[in-house]
Amino acid sequence: MYQTKEKFNSLIGRDDLLILGLESSCDETAAAVTKGRQILSNVIASQIEIHQRFGGVVPEIASRNHTLVFSGVIDTALKQAGVSLDDIDAIAVTSRPGLIGSLLVGVATAKALSFAKNIPLISVNHIEAHICANYANSELKPPFLALVASGGHTSIIEVKGYNEYNLIAKTSDDAIGEAFDKVARLLSLPYPGGPNIDKLSKKGNMFAIDFIKNKGVKPDYSLSYSGLKTAVVNYLHKKEQKGEEINIEDVCASFTRQAVDMLVDTLLCAANDLGYNTIAIAGGVAANSYLRSALLSRAGNKKIIIPPMELCTDNAAMVAIRGYLSALEGKDFAGLDLNAASV
Ligand code: KG4
Ligand code: ZN
Repeated sequence: MYQTKEKFNSLIGRDDLLILGLESSCDETAAAVTKGRQILSNVIASQIEIHQRFGGVVPEIASRNHTLVFSGVIDTALKQAGVSLDDIDAIAVTSRPGLIGSLLVGVATAKALSFAKNIPLISVNHIEAHICANYANSELKPPFLALVASGGHTSIIEVKGYNEYNLIAKTSDDAIGEAFDKVARLLSLPYPGGPNIDKLSKKGNMFAIDFIKNKGVKPDYSLSYSGLKTAVVNYLHKKEQKGEEINIEDVCASFTRQAVDMLVDTLLCAANDLGYNTIAIAGGVAANSYLRSALLSRAGNKKIIIPPMELCTDNAAMVAIRGYLSALEGKDFAGLDLNAASV
């Protein structure tokens, strides 16, 4: 009989839980197995090559590819961890936010496994999961201030407890990763733009171009990348009109400096104002070399926590760890009526 709520309640307080994490909110199909905070396997099937020729993620193609590869990805994750589905204590799945069709594939897969094997299901918020990448193989404890900087989100969040998050600020328009991807597109660099801009920036002069005037940190810590993006567009148009050569490396380095400084200024200011001595960063843009070095060099006596590169971009280990922390405190149990939500 399907009685996962009772089984779920029996997991509370157990720190040796084996969790199967599933992630499909965008263009990565991922499955991972964790034991407590330890990662036993972390398998990611990236669709980057499939979407590259379109210059960005095509949602319908992303969902279809999730359905094609999920079974294989889950099998591999279980095999690499040396466990079977019968050993799994709970399945944690990203249910929001993200591309609705992609999320639905993960949620339907998780529900099918939960029903077939009578395994409790845990609903996971993707942004919180990014933050939880910082708990992997670590002793990190809340409270701390977190920055999630990804393709879909730029959020500053107070982590007050393992299950207590308080949103301080977010971008009002484009996320920082989206700004990197759009600027890369303007420069005819392949998708995803962030890593390519990062690579080229290392050869450029970050002080070559001042795209916008630094207006300082907003009192409500809000951020916006539309002004910077428009300034890059205008700069490139003017150069083209005048027939002048564009130094792509300088554009990449200068854009990166301005995009990242805005974020680091705001993050450090919020940490000071709110009294946080520990800052953890997460999300795809946390892989950016300049963001990492700028934050570390300007942190003063604040402790900066940065996950390893492979845990910055979308993965299922962070989802499994988010699920583990929920189960420990008996939170976020989901039934077969679990639905996906884009926001
Ligand atoms: O967290 P993520 O894998 O997916 C979302 O949840 O959005 O983040 C992907 C984003 C993309 O916009 C990508 O261009 C950006 O992270 N990114 C980077 C770097 N690596 C990935 N941006 C700047 N520098 C990087 N090294
Ligand atoms: Zn993400």
